[in-house]
Formats: sequence, C-alpha cells, structure tokens
Amino acid sequence: MKIEIRDLHKSFGKLKVFTGLNLTIEAGEISVIMGRSGTGKSVLLKHLVGLIRPDQGEILIDGQNIVGLSERELYPIRIRFGMIFQNGGMLQSLNVADNVGLPLVELRGADRKEVAAKVSEKLTLVGLEGRETQAVTTLSGGQQKRVAIARALAQDAECLMFDEPTAGLDPPISATVDDVIEQVNRDTGATCIVVTHDLISAFTVGTKLHLLHEGKVAESGTPEEFQASRNPIVTEFLSRGVGIEKHRTLSRTNVKKPRAQDGETTAPDAKKNN
Ligand SMILES: Nc1ncnc2c1ncn2[C@@H]1O[C@H](COP(=O)(O)OP(=O)(O)O)[C@@H](O)[C@H]1O
Ligand SMILES: [Mg+2]
Repeated sequence: MKIEIRDLHKSFGKLKVFTGLNLTIEAGEISVIMGRSGTGKSVLLKHLVGLIRPDQGEILIDGQNIVGLSERELYPIRIRFGMIFQNGGMLQSLNVADNVGLPLVELRGADRKEVAAKVSEKLTLVGLEGRETQAVTTLSGGQQKRVAIARALAQDAECLMFDEPTAGLDPPISATVDDVIEQVNRDTGATCIVVTHDLISAFTVGTKLHLLHEGKVAESGTPEEFQASRNPIVTEFLSRGVGIEKHRTLSRTNVKKPRAQDGETTAPDAKKNN
C-alpha cells in the first residue's frame, strides 16, 4: 500500500501539530517515523485511518484521497490497516487464539474452522505456533506484541502500523520484536510503519527513516543517508539519541544474534551457535 501525505495541517486549539507536512510511504517498505515526544507521531498514524481528520491537506491511499470520506466510506480503507498498539491491545480475558481470531469473526463473519486455520497459520508466522489456548496474561511483553502482529495479519492487513513497539521492553526482547517486524515484512510483503524513538530499532528495521520536527518532516531517507546527513535537525536528533542509547546499543549488539524464539530467555548455549 502506497501512502502519500500532502500539505497536512492539524491543530488542536492553539497547539499546531502539523503545519504543512509532506510524507511518502512506499509499498512494501518498512518506514520508520521518528521525532521527539509530542511531535505528532501517534496523531499522524491516526490520520491514516481517519480516526483524526486534518484541517487541510490530502492523504492518498493507493491514490485515493481519504480526507472528507464518511465513516461508511472509510470502513473499507480502515480494515486494510492493522494497528499494533503499545501495550499490544490484547483482551486479557481471552486466550491467544481468540484474540488473534477476533477481527475475523467481527469484521468478516468467518466460520470457526476458517478462523482456526488462519489463526494457526499467523501464529506460526510470528513464531508462536501451538500457543492457541495459552492465556494472554501468561505471555511476556514480547510475546504479546507477536500476538498483536498475528492478529493484524489474520485480518489480512496490507499495512501494519506499530506505535512504539519496543517501548518498555528489555534490549533482548526489543531485538526479537525488531526481528519479527523484519520477518513479517519479508514473508508477507506488508507495508510497515514503525513509530519509535528507539534509534537502534529505527536503524535496524527501517528501509526509510522520516524525522518529524516542528510540524513537518525535517528529513526522509535511508539509514545510510541519515547517518551521512548534515541537516542540523538530524545530527542533533541522532547525537542526543546516542548518549541515551549507548548502553542499549552495546547490549543489543551482544544479544541480537542468539535470538530468543519465545522472546523471553536466551539460553547461554545459544551463543555457541554463532
Ligand atoms: N485528541 C487530541 N486532542 C488534543 N490534543 C491532542 C490530541 N491528540 C494528541 N494531542 C496533542 O498533540 C501532540 C502530539 O501528540 P502525539 O502524536 O501523541 O505525540 P507523539 O509524537 O509523542 O506520539 C501532543 O502535544 C498531544 O498532547
Ligand atoms: Mg505517541
């Protein structure tokens, strides 16, 4: 799914969040949206699914401008998106399979057999095969994220949106979440949008990076282009991050390869295989 945002303006009362923002997200890529807290990253994602309406500008989804569409007209657009919320957005009273299958039953009225087959297939894709009947409450943070991704995949979302997917996770678990985003993108071809202020995650998964700053996109480019950028907004953002993330960089590099499959523990032995 290709997304083009043109000249987006949005204010909440006196607070100007977007003042002529332009952004293009290419189909099939992993686009990372960065920016300081409060720059409008989450508000931007909500614009893409029509949950927030702009004051001005165009949002083109595969060429169709969704600005001004009614709720009924937005519906077929919305179900093409899968949102992976910060906390996973799981219903804690349901087991893994029921959480993953929920949109299939609710959105598409699928029958039980069809749902069960699809749930198993998607759980396998995210490395949680055989976990259907497990209570969501007994899953780790990283595993809950995987279930949320499986749920978005079950609804055949063409665009997966991740809002701060590694926030609050330990470095090794963050690395497994990065892995699963890359793998799902590779295996399904879904367009992925990842909002993060985790620079390690951004540079690990991103095929394109976009930096929001004062209501606009200050810079867009590949990770290499960002690293070479002389735009002072970019260099300042990256240098701030390095200080904060230095410890994580080291620990993430150390744990990235062994790849804890369940997202929780890495057996000491696993390192031998590298
Ligand atoms: N529905 C809303 N009404 C009023 N202000 C909002 C609303 N949603 C977000 N904001 C404000 O808009 C700004 C951007 O918010 P947000 O997109 O959540 O930032 P972030 O980049 O941290 O995700 C913040 O100042 C926030 O308080
Ligand atoms: Mg946010």
